[in-house]
Amino acid sequence: MSRTRIHNLSISLDGFAAGEGQSAETPMGHAGQRLHRWMIATDFGTRMMGGDGGSTGVDDAVAHRHELGIGSEIMGANKFGPPGWQDDPDWTGWWGDNPPFHTPVFVLTHRPRAPIEMAGGTVFHFLDVPPAEALVVARDAAGGLDVRIGGGATTAGQFIAAGLVDHLHLVQVPIVLGRGVRLWDGLEGMESGYDVEVVSTPSGVTHLTFTRRAE
Ligand SMILES: NC(=O)c1ccc[n+]([C@@H]2O[C@H](COP(=O)([O-])OP(=O)(O)OC[C@H]3O[C@@H](n4cnc5c(N)ncnc54)[C@H](OP(=O)(O)O)[C@@H]3O)[C@@H](O)[C@H]2O)c1
Repeated sequence: MSRTRIHNLSISLDGFAAGEGQSAETPMGHAGQRLHRWMIATDFGTRMMGGDGGSTGVDDAVAHRHELGIGSEIMGANKFGPPGWQDDPDWTGWWGDNPPFHTPVFVLTHRPRAPIEMAGGTVFHFLDVPPAEALVVARDAAGGLDVRIGGGATTAGQFIAAGLVDHLHLVQVPIVLGRGVRLWDGLEGMESGYDVEVVSTPSGVTHLTFTRRAE
């Protein structure tokens, strides 16, 4: 059975998954790289950034699950580009010619455009539909594998609120951002449908997994 999964979604102690002031120069707003330093330090994160030689400890083992068994991704418009990217017909995402997805990727936006085929198997499709409809399309494209909800928080929150997420991996980073895009608004009591496991690692982050309880 194809599942819907979220991985490596990094939040501050006060629940923000991005800072305030997203722009082309500051994709994560005033948070900068602080939410993802733990991941950038790992072998997985280093490879995602086109390098090699990161750490191979517990953070790496957990981060790596992001790419296992995934057949497609759904992401929000603000992950795909900075505010206003829809006005730039040449914008193809942050990730260069060969993005690290290597699957179909469905970008949710109120201003959809024609699909963009990239090197390495990534094809960006643009959808203006509710989460449940997007999931049907992404699942169909995933060839029996799982669908990853790639974020940001607005998109992840919509899918969690709609009861569409089977597995959620959050990484709580010990910083207080104070402002930005929050994950938890509207999700009161969401944990009740999940088995929750929590483990902190020597880097200082805390990994939380929410796995949907069998009915
Ligand atoms: N902390 C992490 O681990 C993590 C992970 C991924 C991304 N990020 C960061 O998070 C930020 C982006 O997150 P975000 O929460 O601001 O935004 P987001 O979830 O990426 O995108 C939200 C936008 O997507 C469009 N959208 C969402 N659902 C839609 C639907 N059902 N139908 C049509 N359009 C829909 C809307 O844009 P329009 O109305 O403009 O079309 C909406 O404003 C970026 O800074 C990114 O780098 C962080």
